[in-house]
Amino acid sequence: MSTETKRSSFTGKIGFVLAAAGSAVGLGNIWRFPYLAAKYGGGIFLLTYIILSVTFGFALMVAEIAIGRKTQQSPLGAFKALDKRFAWVGILGTIIPVIILPYYSVIGGWVTKYMFGFLTGGMNEMANDTYFNGYIAKVGEPIVWFLLFVAVTALIVIFGVQKGIEKVSKVMMPLLIFLMIFIVIYSVCTIDGAWEGVLYYIKPDFSKFSIMTVVSAMGQLFYSMSLAMGIMITFGSYMKKEISIEKSTHQIEIFDTGIAFLAGLMIVPAVFAFSGGDEGALGQGPGLMFVTLPKVFAKMPAGAVIGTVFFLMVLLAALTSAISLMETIVAVIMDKFKLKRIPACLVVFGACLLLGLPSSLGYSAWAGVKILGMQFLDLFDFISNSLMMPIVALATCIFVGYFLKPKALVDEVSLSGEFKWKKMFEIMIKYIAPVFILAILVSSVLDVFNVIEI
Ligand code: PHE
Repeated sequence: MSTETKRSSFTGKIGFVLAAAGSAVGLGNIWRFPYLAAKYGGGIFLLTYIILSVTFGFALMVAEIAIGRKTQQSPLGAFKALDKRFAWVGILGTIIPVIILPYYSVIGGWVTKYMFGFLTGGMNEMANDTYFNGYIAKVGEPIVWFLLFVAVTALIVIFGVQKGIEKVSKVMMPLLIFLMIFIVIYSVCTIDGAWEGVLYYIKPDFSKFSIMTVVSAMGQLFYSMSLAMGIMITFGSYMKKEISIEKSTHQIEIFDTGIAFLAGLMIVPAVFAFSGGDEGALGQGPGLMFVTLPKVFAKMPAGAVIGTVFFLMVLLAALTSAISLMETIVAVIMDKFKLKRIPACLVVFGACLLLGLPSSLGYSAWAGVKILGMQFLDLFDFISNSLMMPIVALATCIFVGYFLKPKALVDEVSLSGEFKWKKMFEIMIKYIAPVFILAILVSSVLDVFNVIEI
């Protein structure tokens, strides 16, 4: 309990709850979701994602928040407190943010660069097809922006000014949604061929369905909702008993999926239109947002201003997520190694720079280095999203379903009133989710090792 008190006195209980909500909405929604949707079949990916989100995502998020609130501990202590044999789940879950934060910050650096680029009149240059690839192929500049992004994150965590940032994000979120809707309407109405792209994005084409659709949708779900890495457990440990876990989960889910949906609607049809309906262009991967959006802005009146504001808001959303990642790691290091906040932050800052460098250099100096057919950023993304998170999620389901028993968590959720989706929660956690996660875990591993082609 003492460590929790220490941490809560730093951000305050309400502050931490807000930070957890801010943690979910980030680059995952705006950068990662659209490129996966574009790559894995558009409408069919969207449909799979939404179905997984309301069943599987819901159950897992409720479970994590309830575990946190029941034990009043961070993930490291929570699993240990409930059952010593599952302590490793807490440890594994805690390592995941260490893998994500560095490459997340590399992308955060790209966003920062684009914001400054738009601000200083670089829009037309950035709207050029080859600009993005040329930019990330430079050795120096992307590293400087990455460093800046990590430094700002670290400074906020060191000075504990999350509250200020959270206030900013309260204003930012509605503005971001408003701006996204505006951009969607503008591009669909004015760009030739965008409508076909909208259809590609919302109309499921079942012939495009493959196991990879489910694998990637599920990885994205964990990532976007900040699941399977203990963040929601910590979030739950700060939640008051009279607040409804069920309602909060629905709210986070709707908000998170809504923003991802809008981001897809903003980007996928535009790519479709600019490429003249060539589906090959949709598979570009991580660069998709950076290549497409500048072109949309360049066509708009006052595009430079709108683009600047847009990238600024994406940057703030990315920062709130990065802060939650760093705060989790710092809190664990402080507890485990009895370090003070500043040294702990410095350690994390240094480690993040070191681990992030390969992700950045993977596009430039180390472009030739491929591990399992992936360059570093994709590799880190794969290890965390497609391997470690499913393992943590699987272990959580098995633990809750067969050792702790769902009833323990149902009781916790029911403290604030009737648990309406109780049956679904139990069936999901006990039977459907474990089988499902195991299947996708196996298939994604086999795919990478080229045992099967999916
Ligand atoms: N959920 C965040 C996003 O969508 C990313 C994130 C993952 C943040 C894990 C914290 C922890 O961008």
